[in-house]
Amino acid sequence: MAREQAHWAPDTWRARPAKHIPEDYPDPAALAAVEEELSSYPPLVFAGESRTLRQRLAAVSEGKAFLLQGGDCAESFKEFHPNKIRDTFRVLLQMAVALTYGAAMPVVKVGRIAGQYGKPRSSPVETIDGVTLPSYRGDNINAMDFTPEARVPDPQRLLKAYGQSAATLNLIRAFAKGGYADLRNVHKWNLEFVQGNPQSEHYHEIADKISDALTFMEACGVTSDYSKPLSEVEFFTSHEGLLLGYEQAMTRVDSTSGKYHDTSAHMIWIGDRTRQPDGAHVEFARGIENPIGIKCGPTLEPDELMELLDILNPKNEAGRIVLIARFGAGKVQAGLPRLVQRVNAEGRKVVWSCDPMHGNTIKAENGYKTRPFDSILSEVNSFFEVCRAEGAHPGGVHFEMTGQDVTECIGGAQAITESDLSSRYHTHCDPRLNATQALELAFRLAESLRIDRAARAAA
Ligand code: PEP
Ligand code: CO
Repeated sequence: MAREQAHWAPDTWRARPAKHIPEDYPDPAALAAVEEELSSYPPLVFAGESRTLRQRLAAVSEGKAFLLQGGDCAESFKEFHPNKIRDTFRVLLQMAVALTYGAAMPVVKVGRIAGQYGKPRSSPVETIDGVTLPSYRGDNINAMDFTPEARVPDPQRLLKAYGQSAATLNLIRAFAKGGYADLRNVHKWNLEFVQGNPQSEHYHEIADKISDALTFMEACGVTSDYSKPLSEVEFFTSHEGLLLGYEQAMTRVDSTSGKYHDTSAHMIWIGDRTRQPDGAHVEFARGIENPIGIKCGPTLEPDELMELLDILNPKNEAGRIVLIARFGAGKVQAGLPRLVQRVNAEGRKVVWSCDPMHGNTIKAENGYKTRPFDSILSEVNSFFEVCRAEGAHPGGVHFEMTGQDVTECIGGAQAITESDLSSRYHTHCDPRLNATQALELAFRLAESLRIDRAARAAA
């Protein structure tokens, strides 16, 4: 196939049609200068770390591990605070504990964090009370305030996004490796506002069992001081590779392999709106070595998926591709089987993951964008059912979530209602699961994985 062998360089995407990349920077020379400056900044992640993630994802594709990916829809400059980073990190740790315990298999932890700023928008403009302005496109492009000045793309925002990503990653690395994530702290990760509800009790039951197991192991002479898997956690970062000028600037040749890596995050995904096989986003992604996610929505045809896999993973390497199904609760059963069947029939090595967020957004009576907890759970359950029926490993989940006590998604055990939405609605884009809802989902999922495990053992 000619396209596979075509010359690739970090800037070959510029000759392709590029959707959702702003073209209205008032001063293109200033944008170019910022990109030039960024290209001399230190990498945010190292090539070796991305390679490790590929190995972990290869294990997921073989059914030996599970992927947990989650974080904000959009990170923002205003909401930037160490406590928020800590809380997202710890609810992900809690979810991972629940899942590891249920599935009895390793959980690969990937944050939508430290770089998740740019947003593709369904409409390029927004109208409020008869005034029409360009849409908000993410804090690395323009600002959310509804004024003409705020909505002008500003290249300086890329530098700020880089700085904030670096600071976020620095804190995450400290949490992951500096003792906080030691399994002996399993009881301490519980968030204060989750205390007293059923999720918290359920969590403490598992935490008790883990603590007992650790005490037993220590009595046997195995101490977590000497055992990295217990005292440290492996945590990876990811974001949508949307703003290709930034991604290009962060792309470097790895000195050990001589290959290109996008050092802005360990993993990059291509959104449902930008996955055209001939488009700029696919062109950029084909030349970097990072694991690549592809959002798979209801309009993706099996032939097109095969074309994408030919372009992005011509050697069919395990761990390179994560297919992130995001159909909507009512559409998975109809749309997903034919994609899974085709992937199986052609022997393609992929991770199947489920994003139950982006196909389940509705507008509440009072105008808030929200997502019903029941639809989210239903989509995950349908995803599991389809994978089981087609003989594929339901490899992972992809959530928009936060460690904060927000009221953005309705339902769950907390029974958040439409009229509660206004009380703590803070998202900069789509509605996120709050910490309690995220944990509740993790427990439900853990139960599904436990049943799968029992079925496998009985087979
Ligand atoms: C997202 O993940 O924030 C997103 C925009 O998703 P999708 O491309 O699946 O709509
Ligand atoms: Co979103």
